[in-house]
Amino acid sequence: MPTFVLATANPHKTTEMSAVLATLGIEVLPRPEGLADVDETADTLVGNALLKAHAIMQASGHAAVADDTGLFVDALKGAPGVYSARYSGEGATDEQNVAKLLAALADSAPEDRTATFRTVIAVVYPDGREVVVEGVLPGVITDAPRGEYGFGYDPVFLPDLANGRTLAEMTLEEKNEHSHRARALRALGEVLA
Ligand code: IMP
Repeated sequence: MPTFVLATANPHKTTEMSAVLATLGIEVLPRPEGLADVDETADTLVGNALLKAHAIMQASGHAAVADDTGLFVDALKGAPGVYSARYSGEGATDEQNVAKLLAALADSAPEDRTATFRTVIAVVYPDGREVVVEGVLPGVITDAPRGEYGFGYDPVFLPDLANGRTLAEMTLEEKNEHSHRARALRALGEVLA
């Protein structure tokens, strides 16, 4: 069974990624403790995912899997995009980022609130091989947060799934069926098969 070390320390992402990778027959080891954060200095999701996967592969000696996610809002010319984590400043909380996003879209009509979640997943092997895949989820930004599940921008992201619920109104299982990260993980499964 292939074994990957997870680059993420985010408990929500760990749960989501472990659940989907398990269904692909991939064993997941947690990120080694005590490692410094990897600076996300690239200006693309691919660049940052590869930076994180290389760093964790080197620190652990195992194949490593890293993801980088961004929310690309059409009316904001693709912002916050690669900078989604620090949209409202370094060390920003999810609530601060969501508040800034809603304020930026305050004058936008419902039809102008289209957005896409993009996740890039990179696997880097000890011999230097790289696998890179992407998953996308189109949707719209709501005018107020809804739902208690998930994290990040989930409460204001309404996927184009016709069930009328934000990602934060879906259980982990439902989010894992549809999300940008789940789609990228399924693409990874197809590449690895
Ligand atoms: P990163 O991939 O950890 O760099 O995440 C970038 C930003 O997107 C952070 O603000 C996360 O909270 C947010 N984010 C990442 N994945 C998701 C998700 O599945 N739902 C909602 N927000 C997310």
